[in-house]
Amino acid sequence: MYGFSKEYCQNISLLEYGLEIIGKFIFINLSHTPLKIEDQFSIFMLEDLKNLSKHIDTNFSTTKIHAKCNWKLIMEIVMDPLHIPFVHPSTISTKRPFVPPSSTIIHNKEFNYYRINELSYKTTTSLPHEDENWHPLVESYPSKGTYLEYYFFPNLHFIVPTGGFSFAYCAQFPQEYNLTTINYFYATAKRKVNHRIFPIVNIEAFGFGLRTFLEDVAMMENVQLSANSDLLTGNFGNYEMHIKAWRNFFRDFDYENSNETTLSSK
Ligand SMILES: [Fe+2]
Repeated sequence: MYGFSKEYCQNISLLEYGLEIIGKFIFINLSHTPLKIEDQFSIFMLEDLKNLSKHIDTNFSTTKIHAKCNWKLIMEIVMDPLHIPFVHPSTISTKRPFVPPSSTIIHNKEFNYYRINELSYKTTTSLPHEDENWHPLVESYPSKGTYLEYYFFPNLHFIVPTGGFSFAYCAQFPQEYNLTTINYFYATAKRKVNHRIFPIVNIEAFGFGLRTFLEDVAMMENVQLSANSDLLTGNFGNYEMHIKAWRNFFRDFDYENSNETTLSSK
């Protein structure tokens, strides 16, 4: 009745998107030709995510932050181990000892990728043993004594900050070249009992994590203010180097028109 042909009407349907469920996480791929999730993230990363998601409590805290800077600047600072004692002297530095990275890591700035899923990776740092009175009340993820970080390329930073007793992530969503919306999330490990201490634990830990993260945001907003000056010209950070290698990957390899998932030459 609106002038649409019968054939057109027969083919009308809702848009379909690629969807994968990994533990408690749902990945939606908006591409018309979505990558297989194993091509996007390694089996190792996906298995880890699946296992640790079993330990995340259903009570969580989340907020949105609007940062006046480019989303990649946020990724740069969270991936930079050197910034911690200088940007967070009164927050995370009081809990996590600073271990300077080796000179090999600092100088080894050239990345070459052969698979997209190599762009996502996990790091492990030792943590001092610190028992909180609520720790025995949760089913912790077995990472005692370590601070785990996962970088899910391109925009998700997932952390297990307290030896498996809690979880947090920040996801960057670019709005404009100098404006980013960040989803920040915190949850304890799964509660064994519904004790009245948990609302206090959540508020304190969420506040502490957010305070730490807002120190990163403030620093990068200042860097953004210098973005048009010569100061930033040619100064690629760790994350930008990954992005550069990723751009090279697509420059050298016609991914969408190929069934191959590897890069044949550097
Ligand atoms: Fe930071």
